[in-house]
Amino acid sequence: MMSESAESNLNTNTMKNVGISDYLSIFKDNGTYGVTCAVIVAIVTPILLSLVLQGRKKLKQRGVPVQVGGEAGFAVRNARFPKLVEVPWEGATTMAALFEQSCKRYSQQNFLGTRKVIAKDLVTSSDGRKFEKLHLGEYQWETYRQIFDRACNFASGLLKLGHDVDTRAAIFSETRAEWLIAFQACFRQNITVVTIYASLGDDALIHSLNETQVTTLICDSKQLKKLAALSSSLTTLRNIIYFDDEDSSSGSTVTQESGNWQVSSFSEVEKLGRNNPAQPNLPIKKDIAVIMYTSGSTGLPKGVMMTHGNIVATAAAVMTVIPSIGRKDVYLAYLPLAHVFELAAETVMLTAGAAIGYGSALTLTDTSNKIKKGTKGDASVLKPTLMAAVPAILDRVRDGVVKKVEEKGGIVKKLFKIAYSRRLVAIEGSWFGAWGVEALLWDIVVFKKIRSILGGEIRFMLCGGAPLSGDTQRFINICMGAPIGQGYGLTETCAGAAFSEWDDISVGRVGPPLPSCYIKLVSWEEGGYTISDKPMPRGEVVVGGASVTAGYFSNDAKTAEVYKVDEKGMHWFYTGDIGRFHPDGCLEIIDRKKDIVKLQHGEYISLGKVEAALVSSKYVENIMVYADPYHNFCVALVVPARQTLEGWAKESGIKYNDFPELCEKAEAKNEVQQSLLKEAKAAKLDKFEIPAKIKLLPDPWTPESGLVTAALKLKREQLKAKFKDELDKLYK
Ligand SMILES: *[C@@H]1O[C@H](CO)[C@@H](O)[C@H](O)[C@H]1NC(C)=O
Ligand SMILES: *[C@@H]1O[C@H](CO)[C@@H](O)[C@H](O)[C@H]1NC(C)=O
Repeated sequence: MMSESAESNLNTNTMKNVGISDYLSIFKDNGTYGVTCAVIVAIVTPILLSLVLQGRKKLKQRGVPVQVGGEAGFAVRNARFPKLVEVPWEGATTMAALFEQSCKRYSQQNFLGTRKVIAKDLVTSSDGRKFEKLHLGEYQWETYRQIFDRACNFASGLLKLGHDVDTRAAIFSETRAEWLIAFQACFRQNITVVTIYASLGDDALIHSLNETQVTTLICDSKQLKKLAALSSSLTTLRNIIYFDDEDSSSGSTVTQESGNWQVSSFSEVEKLGRNNPAQPNLPIKKDIAVIMYTSGSTGLPKGVMMTHGNIVATAAAVMTVIPSIGRKDVYLAYLPLAHVFELAAETVMLTAGAAIGYGSALTLTDTSNKIKKGTKGDASVLKPTLMAAVPAILDRVRDGVVKKVEEKGGIVKKLFKIAYSRRLVAIEGSWFGAWGVEALLWDIVVFKKIRSILGGEIRFMLCGGAPLSGDTQRFINICMGAPIGQGYGLTETCAGAAFSEWDDISVGRVGPPLPSCYIKLVSWEEGGYTISDKPMPRGEVVVGGASVTAGYFSNDAKTAEVYKVDEKGMHWFYTGDIGRFHPDGCLEIIDRKKDIVKLQHGEYISLGKVEAALVSSKYVENIMVYADPYHNFCVALVVPARQTLEGWAKESGIKYNDFPELCEKAEAKNEVQQSLLKEAKAAKLDKFEIPAKIKLLPDPWTPESGLVTAALKLKREQLKAKFKDELDKLYK
């Protein structure tokens, strides 16, 4: 679900390194004194606390049933808001109005910050590959007022440049301040913006730009070469505007190579606008703000049409779930803006008057791949209070820390274990866990160093894009000392549909509906999920309300399949996810409609459920379970965790030349399969749910290869197509 920069690195090992070296030094200055204190406090505090405080809070009602129109089902609304929230404040009905009003309200506050490049080095690794290492400086800030002026200038510049306001503009770039400026500038002239994830590939890029007849493309300077190569297919384009970089000298090359494009730099357009100011031409709530292209699981990407009203409704709703969000907050922006999750998050920040500092996943921490040794990563310099993350990133943060603790062993490992379990007990709601002074002590002795990896000031994390595992959620709660708001939503619902509340200590659920929408479960009899199920109603998750988008661009058939408008005019989106509502009104996603296969003997197998259980095996980096409905068993493709498997091979004296050869060895296959069996038993899977045969694949699945989404979700259709022969063989 993400664009190039963050994507490539969701996938490289960058994020695996988060915190690893930082962790080396974590316990250096704590001797036995700390341990003694900890033990004394550990014993005394709970006793004192249990005397002072009694009992646990009773279950808080977070969502309540509601009567709605449309198809029959079990519908729930946010308990705090009887009426749907559509705007952050009166009058902010469009992105353009919201932006202008925010910029007036917070005019002197810092708004967008970017780090200056101090030095760029090329480092050659031992195997001869070259890596770019950056030395980045402090954040340079511009105020809301300054950014507003720049957006107005850019908007005027677009007109002067000759952009026809009845045609669309596209942004194809990594996340950066100018992305947001260009975006807002377009809205000042009621220009619809097309966004495309960089990872979708050339065909998708051509398709999206052609389908929406884009005439102006705004992009990174490093995209220019690629565009020139595709120029014969990009027939609707007239203007290309590239973001200025120190080394963006390539503009002129493109002009020469493709005569019919007018190529300008971002700063040139701003200047043009400054000298030729134009009247704004503001949109209304129902106008389409964005056509966001998202990868479908099959075929070409689809353009989701988001209205101005959709995005401001989401922003208004998310505002209500981040505790006391405001001008003091600092947000670290590094996920791709072409992804609705990041777009919504940044819109929330702008609504709240927070400061947004831009970074990238490759420069996030002091030990990130692109950060020059001895210099600071984005988080250390910015010290953000709020951050967004996708589960894949948080999982890797966790793995990195755990691995380091294991490696250190001894006292470090012991201390960490005690601290972790003491806090865990507390967080899970018992007064006998580590609270108060003891919690503080553990923070100082154990967690402070871990927190400093992300700057040390994080007070709330937003997580979305895919389900977060309970273990990781707890781990981040404890080690980062910050609650995680877990969002559930899709591009089609303009991100937010449900959002877990900061004081909800449970795991694995996505919270009640956001106040901008209703969530309804509709029975899916065939799949065995109904709203009369006990103990909880279950069914397909259907979202209705102000944040539900207008449909797919130029694809009425697909729109009619998954969107419905009820008798009151409310839009409902059928997500294809299966969920259930807990008694407190919180939603839990339990399955995915199309990932359920009916086997030959009539049993239903949920591929996602089986994968989630088996991925816990230490040998599994990635796994896809496949079930052919004409058989009564399933099989699996496994990308083994290379280090672990090689470690095992070494110990067991297995000889092999390279990793692909190891993957072919029967012993290796058997070892992995035994491990899967163990996990399957632990998760109480049925016999038919345990892969009868597996194939080990040496190459990792990356978004670039098109086999997983940027959020690292499996793309089943693509995987099935690519490994068709292997799957066929498994069924022979
Ligand atoms: C572009 O779109 C037109 C229809 O609008 C279509 O006929 C043409 O084949 C498309 N070209 C490409 C390269 O996709
Ligand atoms: C904004 O642009 C769209 C599409 O070009 C148009 O249909 C709509 O009427 C415009 N809105 C306003 C308020 O002019």
